[in-house]
Amino acid sequence: MTRFRPTLAEVDLEAIRHNAGAMKPPRAELMAVVKSNGYGHGAVPCANAALSGGATWLGVALVEEGIALRDSGIEAPVLVLSEFPAGAEKDALAAGLTPTVYTEPGVEAIAQVARDLGITARIHLKVDTGMHRVGLYPPEAAVAFARGILASGLELEGLWTHFARSEEDEKATSLQLDRFLSVSRSLDEAGITPRLRHAANSAAVVRHPESHLDLVRVGIAIYGLDCAPGVAASMGLRPALSWRSEVTMVRRLPAGERLSYGHRYRLERDSTVATVPVGYADGYPRILSNRAHVLVGGERRRVAGTITMDQLLVDCEDDDVQSGDEVVLIGRQGKQEVTADELASLSGTIGYEITCGISERVPREYAGGPGGSE
Ligand SMILES: Cc1ncc(COP(=O)(O)O)c(C=O)c1O
Repeated sequence: MTRFRPTLAEVDLEAIRHNAGAMKPPRAELMAVVKSNGYGHGAVPCANAALSGGATWLGVALVEEGIALRDSGIEAPVLVLSEFPAGAEKDALAAGLTPTVYTEPGVEAIAQVARDLGITARIHLKVDTGMHRVGLYPPEAAVAFARGILASGLELEGLWTHFARSEEDEKATSLQLDRFLSVSRSLDEAGITPRLRHAANSAAVVRHPESHLDLVRVGIAIYGLDCAPGVAASMGLRPALSWRSEVTMVRRLPAGERLSYGHRYRLERDSTVATVPVGYADGYPRILSNRAHVLVGGERRRVAGTITMDQLLVDCEDDDVQSGDEVVLIGRQGKQEVTADELASLSGTIGYEITCGISERVPREYAGGPGGSE
């Protein structure tokens, strides 16, 4: 598509490769979690970069996301992190996606479609050890459940769980891990030993090495963002995404003028005000009005007044700012940096939501390797 607006998100695939390498434990496989369009970074280019950085698995939330990876030519194993929705089994298995299971109807549906397709489906059983979102509960039901899986002709390749508080609570995480390992031992005693036991997300990889097991499922750290304060820096991770635009209009306004909808920002002094073609429809949260900073001319400058759907204003004070000057919303300019985590903390959310929220209207471009642009 022809682009006229000077706004884009650039994703550094070299950073993704580096982060994958930094997060891969020496003795466990690495699954790069690329759901939600690679946390907003672009699933296919990021998946390829993570695979070249040491990942051997990919994780997605939706069957549709897995099929899109296959359509791009990716052949690595792809785990769908919840049960396939009823009716999706045939497409998902035909695409070679690995199912997660935790209900009897879910197992039966996959077994039936696998028989129809004449394949042996390898599946991963998810047990709920305390997150209480999806998974087999109570986890102690796993032995009987696994016997049912095997009896229906499926292969049990994986056993897994998901932590609720690995970034903040060691006790809760250890309890979940103990519960999971006890399920794994019971299966062993019953003669059922799945090849891949996995539990750790990004925070657990760093804070709970005992949870690495056979495979770790890493999302946010692959993109170089913090799963807990200071973690990205301590692991030497590099934020992969920068979000840039340009000044489209500049006006000099006298002290006392008020800006944008609701006139919620008053200029304290004569000031140069720049207009930037980015708004909440692009995923730049409106709650950042009067709070966030962007980078213009190597300086941090306040987002002034209400962020509108398509544009925002910046108070540049006495800086010599011109139309066409670069504006950085996330990323570096000169010595300054604005991170997704900074915008997240100003908006009362997490970095995940900031990058996932950058809307389709913002084109992604890729540096540091083959990736093309979207
Ligand atoms: C089941 C599952 N595993 C792993 C991850 C990756 O978590 P993180 O992005 O914190 O590494 C997610 C992400 O939410 C998930 O839902």
